[in-house]
This record gives sequence, structure tokens and C-alpha cells, in this order.
Amino acid sequence: MELPVIDLSPILAVGPTDPQSEKLCEVVSRTLRETGALLVKDPRCSAEDNDRFIDMMERYFQQPPDFKRLQERPYLHYQVGVTPEGVEVPRSFVDPQMQKKLKAMPEEFQPATPRGPDPKWRYMWRVGPRPSDTRFQELNSEPVIPEGFPEWKETMDSWGYKMISAIEVVAEMAAIGFGLPRDAFTSLMKQGPHLLAPTGSDLSCYGQEGFVFAGYHYDLNFLTIHGKSRFPGLNIWLRRGQKVEVKVPVGCLLIQAGKQIEWLTGGECIAGMHEVVVTKRTVDAIKAAQDQNRSLWRVSSTLFAHIASDNVLKPLGHYVKSEYASQYPPIVAGEYVEQELSIINLRGKAGDGDNLEN
Ligand SMILES: [Fe+2]
Repeated sequence: MELPVIDLSPILAVGPTDPQSEKLCEVVSRTLRETGALLVKDPRCSAEDNDRFIDMMERYFQQPPDFKRLQERPYLHYQVGVTPEGVEVPRSFVDPQMQKKLKAMPEEFQPATPRGPDPKWRYMWRVGPRPSDTRFQELNSEPVIPEGFPEWKETMDSWGYKMISAIEVVAEMAAIGFGLPRDAFTSLMKQGPHLLAPTGSDLSCYGQEGFVFAGYHYDLNFLTIHGKSRFPGLNIWLRRGQKVEVKVPVGCLLIQAGKQIEWLTGGECIAGMHEVVVTKRTVDAIKAAQDQNRSLWRVSSTLFAHIASDNVLKPLGHYVKSEYASQYPPIVAGEYVEQELSIINLRGKAGDGDNLEN
């Protein structure tokens, strides 16, 4: 199954409330509902921007572990800087209920079984303003910039802001498509704890077919966005349970529904389950990269967009009367995030705690 690509250019020209945009808003909400994912093309986020970001992150992740560990802040629960491989744990590895559900799935759609924590590195970079008055003050930590990367701050901030701009347009379109006011989601996102959180996976060590980089999970934030990765490997599960390997066309962005949009729509749009594994197509891309002497680090240019921590998650507008609304009782977004993290939290053992996936 091919996901449709939504070109945002006409929407940026006339706005999502223009009568011409109505059909596209409907496609956005329907695709998110049926697949948990969406491909968009935003003229403000070019393939060159994505390349510039990935080039820098490849150069970073390729540094020796001792260098990267200088950017590690375990005492700040990895909220900023680098998280080494082997720290983040997929929910399917620690949640017996989820394991039971997976065993009941038809074999062809079952996810790969992770053998332990995810073998991927991650870098956390905060994007956008934070509230000065909040019950959920993030740790008062300076952003971490590795030595020898003078372009770091500009590259991270510019990619981060571009991704948030794309998410905001999609969030407005989705709100309209779901029959809510245009700013139903974006007004709740203001000053949210958005995080640019690219991952790096070393395919020169872990390039065997079937190897799991990110075990089956959902994202606990509102919407997640990525540019095209140089190595395929992302599988998503459609609402009806089929597993689909995602193909992101050049210059397009992939958006995935997280748990917070599920809450706000009373289960109309559920969080998309996904995993990252080495597939046949990944192996082909590894061979091509080797032939061309390119980096074998798989970088994902992920940004997690959040509902602001002090806002309440609850079914919005007409979704308050939806069939499943009682499964989504009001909860403050910051509390919800803490609750989710406590399930997969191995802080006592490994120092993990701020993995924004689940
Ligand atoms: Fe994820």
C-alpha cells in the first residue's frame, strides 16, 4: 500500500480554511485515521535541508564512542545531549500485555522481536520557546554542542523550526478534517516541549536482515515528523492491523500520529504502531552506500511535537460524545508523559528516562 503524498504548497498559498483546501484537509484526517501516518511535501523543507542535517548527524554519529560520550548527560536523564546505544527500551520488550497481543497477531503482521534495548544512539535538542511558569519545569540545563561542529546550533535550530512549521500546517488541516476548529490542536501545542531527537544506527555493525533498531512501539507525543532517511527500514501498522513498509519519496516528510492526538480525538485517530528493522531494501541500500563509499550510519531526522505540558488532554469538541471517550479521561499532558515514561523507565538500572517513544 502506498501512502498518498499531500503537497502543502496550495494550502500555504490560500490557507486551510479556503474552500479549495477542504478536500485536502479531509484526506489528511482520513489518512491519519486509517494509517496512523502521512506523507507531505512542504516547499519550506527541501531535500537539501534534509541532506544538510543528515550530513552533519552522520559526521557526528561516526565519531568514536569516547567523543560522543562527552555529550552524554545521564544525571539530567538524557533530556539534552546524546543517549548512547543500549539505553532506550522498546515497550514491546518490557510490557507483558503488549507481548500477549503481539502473539495473537497473524504471523505475517507480527513485529520483529527485539532482543534487548534498542541499539541506536540519539541526540536530544530542544526546539522552540518554553513557558516561564509551568508545573513541569524541564531541568535547567544548557543545550549541549559537540566540539568541532561550528554549524551545530544553526543546523539543529533551522531543521527543528522547519519541521515544526510543517507539523503546524498539518495539525490545522487535521483539525479541520476532524470537524474541529482550525486551531484546536495548534493552540494546545504552543510552548510545548518539542524535541528534535535524531537517531543514529551503525549499519556496519548491525546490517543483517531482521536486526531490530527500534522495537515495536507507539510515540507518546502529539505528532512525530521525519525527513527521508538514506536507509529504509520503517514498518508501520495500519489501523486494521496490516504491517506496511514505508517508502518516503525524495523531498517528502513522514508524519506519524502519537498518543496525544489519540487522546484529543477520543480514539478516532489512534497512535500509529511502528518499528525500525533491517529489511531487504535496507540491505540493498547498505550495498549501494558501500559501493559509493558513503556513511553506513542510518540517521533519522526525527522531531517529536508535543502538546504543552500544562494543557489538559481530553477528547475535544464533538469527540467528547464519541463511543470511546471514557477511555480518554482528562489528564494534564505533563502528567501523562510522566506516567508513560514510568512504564518503560529503567532509570534505576541504566539511567534512561526520557525516551519519547513507547
Ligand atoms: Fe517512534
